[in-house]
Amino acid sequence: MWKATWGLLLLTSICHAQDGDETKRKGHVSVVVVGGTGDLARKYLWQGFFQLYANHVSKGHTFSFYAGGLSPAEKGRPVLFDILKGLTCPVELTAERCALVKEQFLRLAQYRQLKSAEDYQGLAQHIATQLKQEGMAEAGRLFYLSVPAFAYADIADRVNSTARPPAGAWLRVVLEKPFGHDLASAQLLTTQLSGSLREEEMYRIDHYLGKQVVSQILPFRKENRKFLDPVWNKHHIARIEIVLKETLDAKGRLQFYDQYGVIRDVLQNHLTEVMTLLTMDIPANLTDGKEVLQKKLQIFGALPQLDRSCAVVGQYQSYNAEVQQELNKTKDHYSFTPTFAGVVIYIDTARYDGIPIILSSGKMLDERVGYARVLFKNNVFCVQDHSSVECNPKEIVFYFGHGHLRYPAVLVSKNLFKPSLLKDGWKEVTESGDVSLFGRPLTDFHVQTPAVQREAYAELIAHVFRGRKDRFISSENLLASWSFWSPLLDSLAQTFPRPYPGGPANGNLLNFQFQGHEATFSSEAVVTMIPQDQSENFQVMQGKYRGAEMVSAWPNELVERLASDLQEAAEEAVREGVPFHLALSGGSSPIVLFKRLAQHHYSFPWWNTHLWLADERCVPPSEAGSNFYTLHEHLLQYVRLPYFNIHPMPVLINQRLCVEEDSGALLYEREIGLLVNSSSFHYVLLGVGFDGHTASLFPGSKLEVDGERLVALTESPVKPHQRMSLTFSAINRARRVGVLVMGKSKHELVTQLSRIKDTLERLPITKIHPKNGNLIWYIDYEALLGQ
Ligand code: BG6
Repeated sequence: MWKATWGLLLLTSICHAQDGDETKRKGHVSVVVVGGTGDLARKYLWQGFFQLYANHVSKGHTFSFYAGGLSPAEKGRPVLFDILKGLTCPVELTAERCALVKEQFLRLAQYRQLKSAEDYQGLAQHIATQLKQEGMAEAGRLFYLSVPAFAYADIADRVNSTARPPAGAWLRVVLEKPFGHDLASAQLLTTQLSGSLREEEMYRIDHYLGKQVVSQILPFRKENRKFLDPVWNKHHIARIEIVLKETLDAKGRLQFYDQYGVIRDVLQNHLTEVMTLLTMDIPANLTDGKEVLQKKLQIFGALPQLDRSCAVVGQYQSYNAEVQQELNKTKDHYSFTPTFAGVVIYIDTARYDGIPIILSSGKMLDERVGYARVLFKNNVFCVQDHSSVECNPKEIVFYFGHGHLRYPAVLVSKNLFKPSLLKDGWKEVTESGDVSLFGRPLTDFHVQTPAVQREAYAELIAHVFRGRKDRFISSENLLASWSFWSPLLDSLAQTFPRPYPGGPANGNLLNFQFQGHEATFSSEAVVTMIPQDQSENFQVMQGKYRGAEMVSAWPNELVERLASDLQEAAEEAVREGVPFHLALSGGSSPIVLFKRLAQHHYSFPWWNTHLWLADERCVPPSEAGSNFYTLHEHLLQYVRLPYFNIHPMPVLINQRLCVEEDSGALLYEREIGLLVNSSSFHYVLLGVGFDGHTASLFPGSKLEVDGERLVALTESPVKPHQRMSLTFSAINRARRVGVLVMGKSKHELVTQLSRIKDTLERLPITKIHPKNGNLIWYIDYEALLGQ
């Protein structure tokens, strides 16, 4: 039966081949869909392979198709044939031709149980025997793993050990996401797979890369370079939005979804891929997988680390009950999994720096739509006739499909430029009806759409067959993406997502706004603004702590107050006619302060301010662990402070870190002596660690409180061990010292310190007593009250 099938195929193929020998020359391709009777295979994969077959049947290759499954053949076979019978004809084929091709396709497809290593071996033997009998050369084997990711490593191992094609024929193994859950699991999976498969043999699918519009982003940018080059940068782009909205819920797939959530499910892969295509340098050769990868990696390399503040998350209201039911959880189970997310990202390059890129996706929203929208600034001032085309917003929209438009399209505002028509069967849309997009009539845009709409899977299957690696996710790409997303995912792990009712009832509830790197729900901001309007000092309390002044408030108000106090101190110095000398500590607490100063204190006299460090870790200043790096990331890059007023601690001298003979501490001390009047800073900002350390003065630091030295190398009990720090005497000379203590985790320490009145060797913070100045404690209510 099998032999007869192939014979028939050969006849048909040769009839249509241009060259009678071509079939032999191009050889035979075996396609194995593991999980070939599952949902994805039923919905998309077999249709895609049928399309592939229809396109190639007369072009020289011969094919056989196997659906692999865990069930025995008697059970699997009828399921497969039921799927295949339902296949629809590609539009290019006449009904008659399609009937013939479909009949052949059905004959070429068979079900095989693929459960054990022997089953894979059996399949390989079967292919080899048939090829020998037919006298056919083998071109390659394509394994499509449409199975849960936990099975990948085993299957890859079986393919490798028993089912590899002979030398000269290719092996391509297609994998579907999820490719891990975070960086560590993605690394593990990558390592496991690389034990069985070579990188060039793996085709990791992101089905967004198969969407017609997405695959045209780079060609569009290249074709229209003449118009885009001058405006594709921070001076012209106001923002970029990359969005996938869905109306469906997650029911039926909660086993998977509840462990992943929307960021892992959609943002980490689909939307990130679109972002890289929009922003990477255009490769000279768009089909060169290596070059495309290299340009993508450059973008990943320029993405600053995300933290919780740059994201908002939500969860549709019925989600938790669905989880309890579908996953058999008890009624008190609460899932933190977000079903909606909005994240604001910046790319730290000279071209894009400062452009907010918003990635957003959610289930149970008002409509199903996906798009990437590049909004440009419009610098035209319209004196009259505001309806004229040049007064309109300027944007380019890559519309993936659905939504108001109902078809995929690339749209360019008419006041930008008229783009060239995309190749590969695109057409201009001239009939716009009364459709509007983002509030603008379609007539405001030049619109192009594919002449024939194709399924993403069919496109990608064709690319696997052609070996177009540029359309797939390489290991490096995958790991770069996970290392970008994992810190955010970690920081969100215990965040309560905002509940939303679902559908149009969501109203404005999920709208979010961003300011710099911070994203917040818009409606929340309205609520907190009311008390601020009423009283600047709302909820701020003053008192005494350890005999010194104390200011206490909820975290936001506390930081607001500290920032204002700093500005006041700076203005006072400037009024006295001297520059303001401020020494800042490292750690995570001051980051909120840095952000506050950068985003709200535009009148701060930065031009007359000198910034010093109270302490530094002995790591290169370009590393995330460096205090100077943190200061730069959250403050320096946003304010206009003269470069020569910035004084990082010289931890790196002669290409080595904190070596006594290099005299870094002495150098810093001398610089202070030269610039700061009586070496007395106007303000030193400190924090306090759980062990009572402050700056980098740890319990047991052998530094005399009244000693001569102003700067010293010290040792930390935690990594990095080596530090540089202002000494007690330098700090105690300051005119003002602020100690910022925040967070519930500091409550115990705050309580202990309040009980101890004396100066204790084991608690360095107790040795801070400015001789001629003030000490002020800034303690938030969480640290003070433990709530
Ligand atoms: C999948 C996600 O990768 O993409 C789904 O797992 C999501 O949750 C789907 O619904 C969206 O794809 P499309 O093609 O419908 O936009």
